[in-house]
Amino acid sequence: MAKKVLITGIAGQDGSYLADLLLAKGYEVHGIVRRIAIEDSTHKLKNLVHLHDRLKLHVASLDNVLSLIKTVREVMPDECYHLAASSFVSYSFEDEMSILNNNINATHYLLAALKEFVPHCRFYYAGTSEMFGNVEQSPQDERTPFNPRAIYGVSKVAGYHLVKNYRSQYGMFACSGILYNHESPRRGYEFVTRKIISSAVKIKLGLLDSVSLGNLDARRDWGYAPDYVQAMWLMLQTDAPDDFVVATGETHTVREFVETAFNCLGLDYRQFVKTDPQFFRPTELVDLCGNARKITDELGWQRTRTLQQIIVEMVESELALCEGRKG
Ligand code: GDD
Repeated sequence: MAKKVLITGIAGQDGSYLADLLLAKGYEVHGIVRRIAIEDSTHKLKNLVHLHDRLKLHVASLDNVLSLIKTVREVMPDECYHLAASSFVSYSFEDEMSILNNNINATHYLLAALKEFVPHCRFYYAGTSEMFGNVEQSPQDERTPFNPRAIYGVSKVAGYHLVKNYRSQYGMFACSGILYNHESPRRGYEFVTRKIISSAVKIKLGLLDSVSLGNLDARRDWGYAPDYVQAMWLMLQTDAPDDFVVATGETHTVREFVETAFNCLGLDYRQFVKTDPQFFRPTELVDLCGNARKITDELGWQRTRTLQQIIVEMVESELALCEGRKG
């Protein structure tokens, strides 16, 4: 019988790539979506369009424990990937209370429901480099202390400890992936890489004159999203549950990303890119760079794309989208 998987956040970048991966591996794939996503499926489920009727979507809300229990009992999954969260870091400063409550409660409800009804289910939790926050050592690995500087990071550290507790106290197979930034053509427009690519392509096509960004000197460790969902899956196939950092070990500035993206289109970014204080972060993290040696050595994980290759793929996909060659 096919293994059953339940994915929260299935309509997002990572959820949709994970669904692609697990369908290809023969899983029966179930996803949790909000009612509003079903009502506005053209926009909110656009990453899943190509999967048509191969998925089983369940309407539930992560802040409603009863709806989660109902879904867990209906699906009785063998594996659960908890990817849904308020994940755009900038919002943290504007809407701290709800981010903290929603992210922590959703993780707790889900773990509790699984423990009660399907305790053998293997659980993946989407941790993040934001948990390290203002670091004192670089690169970071699984032993680096957490020092989050945004409420989003604080909420993710709390979730990480919940996962650890369910693992040690209740014997659940629960793992946290500590993932650094990962990008692709399915990245949301609010994140800097997609904003840069989509603006550069619109400028190239004469649809936009310029783009305003925040801190061009901010550095990030950017990887390729499909590689990172492969890492999630690997974490749940081991003999014993554990936590792993997933990163490239290389950092680049936003400026380098901008320059490469505009160069791909034969444009000089200096003529089109402005900076605007509204896009600067109140606290900017420095030196977030991950050491993925543990997952490489123990699970054989490897990245498949350089940043240059990711940028080229994103530019080509955006051009196809803007020129109407892609749905
Ligand atoms: N969004 C945005 N918009 N960021 C900008 C801009 C801008 O106009 N200009 C400069 N930046 C800088 C930000 O200050 C930050 O240093 C960097 O670009 C990346 O910002 P984002 O793409 O918004 O990502 P993030 O690093 O804050 O968070 C992402 O990665 C984390 C680590 O994996 C998100 O995916 C998080 O959910 C994730 O945890």
